Amino acid sequence: MADNRVNPVPRHVAIIMDGNGRWAKERGSPRLKGHEAGAQSVRVVIKACRDAGVEFLTLYAFSVENWSRPKAEVDGLMRLLVRFMDDQEHELHENRVRLRVIGRLADLPDVVMNSLNRVMERTAGYTDHQLVLALSYGGRTEIAHAARRIAEQVKAGTLQPESVDEACVAANLYAPDIPYPDLLIRTSGEMRISNFLLWQLSYAELYVTPVCWPDFREPHFRAALDDYARRSRRFGGIEPEVKR
Ligand code: IPE
Ligand code: IPE
Ligand code: MG
Repeated sequence: MADNRVNPVPRHVAIIMDGNGRWAKERGSPRLKGHEAGAQSVRVVIKACRDAGVEFLTLYAFSVENWSRPKAEVDGLMRLLVRFMDDQEHELHENRVRLRVIGRLADLPDVVMNSLNRVMERTAGYTDHQLVLALSYGGRTEIAHAARRIAEQVKAGTLQPESVDEACVAANLYAPDIPYPDLLIRTSGEMRISNFLLWQLSYAELYVTPVCWPDFREPHFRAALDDYARRSRRFGGIEPEVKR
């Protein structure tokens, strides 16, 4: 069979991990059971990224809008985050993955932030793979935050208004050193971005699967990478992208 792959493995994969609630509902279980089951999919995907050679994995774990959910669900999600850090830290070491977080981190309970900080510090030395958790994250919030930082620099006289260009905005995002996602995967079928990485996804390839997040396994991830490999990324031009 002819291999018509035109793209190499994506350097950065971002995932909207959706469908935990529906997965639980189908089983007659409380929503939190779906979130619990989703933790296993996170482990699977971290390992699959390492095996495939994906350098950056950004997971949408909690949006600024998700604070509007019932308190019991929000509290449960925060507890799960702490548990995930406790249970999975050793796997991050085994896979040599550096943990990062992006979002409005001041919103997070101290107990969550402490556990994230602990794992971030201990994994800070790994350079091959990075896991970026988007927590209390909103794309509009991030861009507004960047605008505020830029305004402060202009006010302080360290930046001229005519120097505010795309590179300047990009430099004031939460994690300016991370390349933009090449591939965005969304599970459980919704065809929307839901305020995720609005700036960074401008030229990402989108892949939506009907599979709910707790059922997402390595073959599903592989299928997304295979699909990506055959996309024609033109970036507004007319020639297929030259191999990087
Ligand atoms: C995604 O699953 C996880 C979070 C948003 C934290 P949902 O909880 O949104 O599941 P559905 O979309 O209701 O099925
Ligand atoms: C997006 O899922 C947020 C996360 C996966 C953390 P949502 O379930 O919150 O998004 P909507 O409400 O379907 O747009
Ligand atoms: Mg959802």
